[in-house]
Amino acid sequence: MTRIRKAVFPVAGLGTRFLPATKAVPKEMLTIVDRPVIQHVVDEARAAGIEHFIFVTGRNKHVIEDHFDIQYELDRTLSERGKKKEQQLLAEILPAAGTASFTRQQAPLGLGHAVWCARDIVGDEPFALLLPDMLHKGETPCLKDMIDAHAKLGGNHVAVAPVPEEETHQYGIVGVKDRKAKVSEITEMVEKPKAGTAPSNLHISGRYILQPTIFELLAKQEKGAGGEIQLTDAMVALAASETFFAVRFDGEIYDTGSKLGFLAANVAYALSDPALKDPFRAEAKKLLG
Ligand code: UTP
Repeated sequence: MTRIRKAVFPVAGLGTRFLPATKAVPKEMLTIVDRPVIQHVVDEARAAGIEHFIFVTGRNKHVIEDHFDIQYELDRTLSERGKKKEQQLLAEILPAAGTASFTRQQAPLGLGHAVWCARDIVGDEPFALLLPDMLHKGETPCLKDMIDAHAKLGGNHVAVAPVPEEETHQYGIVGVKDRKAKVSEITEMVEKPKAGTAPSNLHISGRYILQPTIFELLAKQEKGAGGEIQLTDAMVALAASETFFAVRFDGEIYDTGSKLGFLAANVAYALSDPALKDPFRAEAKKLLG
């Protein structure tokens, strides 16, 4: 089975739900405790064994590129001041030379279009796709479980997690052969099903392993919901000829592109931080009364 070496991070969206914060700062650079959202997701990919990180950026997103590059002046100042711990922290973020690629989506035409923009860098091999605003917090990195499933089964994989029945119309939903299994073959995929018609309550949570044939379908540039080139439409078309598996994620998921999800993620990550959890809990208690 071809090993999953490359991961795509589409970061070219406008982040309109978070304006005005995202007018000049990309939503992927908003911080969850002490690191930007995008770094949490890159860390997940690295922990899952990803070797090449592909960012699809857009206008006003150059700060993401800077975050994953050396900051020479800062590094020298830290060195002169003997701040070894801080220097080490920055060194850990840095992808090895030649293992990060940046390409631009010139207009935000939709997630499917953003993924298609990475086609030449991905080449002819299966790849991982991580939506950076969806944080997956669990025992094992979500993508690791998916890579392990792909090593055994091949095909295409999407991470799924349950949502309340009454919310299924807001998500991409899958029907599966065995609802109780950790990994199960997908029988149906629907984007935002009408109330009462969803095949299950399992939603697609923003982690994918896709075969490169997806690029041929995305190349058609067909517009779907909201006039955007949708990834789900291409996946539904691909499912006619290739197998898709759902890999259930059992941890917590936070949509940091929404204000509520962002705030909840900050609380959850602060409560898991060994140095912060006790003082933070005390502060929160004071606020909540
Ligand atoms: P979202 O729809 O959550 O992001 O897309 P958005 O459009 O930035 O957010 P809102 O709804 O306006 O607040 C999911 C992911 O796909 C990327 C986004 O950056 C985000 O990580 N995306 C979306 C692109 O890279 N290009 C696009 O054209 C659309």
